[in-house]
Amino acid sequence: MEDMTLNDPNAAREWWRDAVTYQVYVRSFADSDGDGVGDLPGITSRLPYLRDLGVDALWITPFFTSPQHDHGYDVADYCDVDPLFGSLADADTLLVRAHELGLRVIVDLVPNHTSSEHEWFRAALDAAPGSPERARYLFRDGRGTDGSEPPNNWQSVFGGPAWTRVPDGQWYLHLFDATQPDLDWRNTEVGDLFEDVLRFWLDRGVDGFRVDVAHGLVKEESLRDQVVTSDETPSSVPEESVAADGGSVSMVERHRRDEPMWDQPEVHDVYRRWHKVLAEYDGDRMTVAEAWTQTPESMARFVRDDEMSQAFNFSWLLAPWTADAFAEVITGTLAAIEDIDASPTWVLSNHDVVRHPTRYGGGATGLARARAATLTMLALPGSSYLYQGEELGLEQVDVAPQHRSDPSWLRTGEEGRDGCRVPIPWAGDAAPYDFGPGAAQPWLPQPDDWAPLTVAAQAEHPDSVLTFYRAALAARRKFATPAGDDVELLDLGADVLAFRRGGLTVVLNCAAAPTALPDGEILIASGPVAGELPGNTAVWLRTG
Ligand code: NOJ
Repeated sequence: MEDMTLNDPNAAREWWRDAVTYQVYVRSFADSDGDGVGDLPGITSRLPYLRDLGVDALWITPFFTSPQHDHGYDVADYCDVDPLFGSLADADTLLVRAHELGLRVIVDLVPNHTSSEHEWFRAALDAAPGSPERARYLFRDGRGTDGSEPPNNWQSVFGGPAWTRVPDGQWYLHLFDATQPDLDWRNTEVGDLFEDVLRFWLDRGVDGFRVDVAHGLVKEESLRDQVVTSDETPSSVPEESVAADGGSVSMVERHRRDEPMWDQPEVHDVYRRWHKVLAEYDGDRMTVAEAWTQTPESMARFVRDDEMSQAFNFSWLLAPWTADAFAEVITGTLAAIEDIDASPTWVLSNHDVVRHPTRYGGGATGLARARAATLTMLALPGSSYLYQGEELGLEQVDVAPQHRSDPSWLRTGEEGRDGCRVPIPWAGDAAPYDFGPGAAQPWLPQPDDWAPLTVAAQAEHPDSVLTFYRAALAARRKFATPAGDDVELLDLGADVLAFRRGGLTVVLNCAAAPTALPDGEILIASGPVAGELPGNTAVWLRTG
């Protein structure tokens, strides 16, 4: 038989390199049993929708046994399904059905911390200071004569000190909520546990893992204080920092934050081990890092040949609405991975950030910009991640305080992330918009004015956001994916991002005023185009 790989240069390319992955926030996607919370059978019932949308894979947020203090990012048992979301049999059914439909499935691994209800942490609380049970976590004595001060000045990402004291006087570290104790990855028992967890899900057939807080697993061994300047709090983003000895540091260093808790060199040993585990399995199993690193170079370290497959490129999501900012991200991202065999990723929304139409100003302008940014992103080489509901043009919801449940809101009183997690409207004129059966209301209330935004209302409408996403994903397969990996930025004037990728030219007009359209056949546009390219609009042109 003829060896197809000799004739087809793409035959050996792993599926994830060009994939569009759709993020399913399990609580809020589809509810099968009417308890107001989404679940695995709900996802399974909606898989044909994802197939028809045209995505390649879905990433499902944690559905494992959990007390749900951080909506599943606090895992009490990594190898079982929380009854809220179904059962292991439901997970198996989902995997089989997704694969039948040609969809890959990525699950969410939470290795930085367990739930405080994990059997290891319960045992640690029952055991004495210095015991092997405590050594799986980061328990330390406090400072001050009576040990009543936390062991260092680190702040939780969710606000407040990153340490909580237990009755015998010791403290434990939690970079997130107090119900999410950090594991000590310098303890070999921890690495062994997670190898077993990987194998458990790989054996069941998952195609990959999204790795939560991938840059945080290993802390600087001394657990020293974080160096903070006088004008920043330990949790704020700095303009400048100073060397530990108070002396001057280079320009580069001054723009980097001192982070003894993040991005330590030893974390890469973890991913080298995981790489070997995944390589034992067939079918190009993959990992994608959630790593909030400070530079494209530090992001690139996670995707070296023998480590993870991908890392979320949050600089794309963080870029303000300017052509220069987008151009800088594209250049920086591609340059950082130039010398390694990695593929870039692009993302605009997820369950932790304000939805991108709202970030870009909201209303008609915000939506026009969101469509334009999405179309631009889908033209770039590498893989794109979409967040459920963006294909419906959903905006951030102003959730009333009494309904908010994000632990960062509960710890700080700041608004938190509930507004991007409101359950999806599928059909109907009023909440729950077919999110679940009957009239049972979802765990977060849906706005009264979502009837025109439901999947059913948009599905057949030629100008809807859903129709646009379907067309954009089809155009990507046809024109962008085959166009090679080289990107050449073009100078078409201030406020205009333009690049050529093979025979495809992409123009994004970030200004409000129209700009001249280069020659070429229009393949797809994010909004109406006639003669000129209107403001806040992107277009793909066939130019070769
Ligand atoms: C990142 C997740 O995306 C977020 O939702 C979670 O709260 C933190 N990691 C802690 O696990």
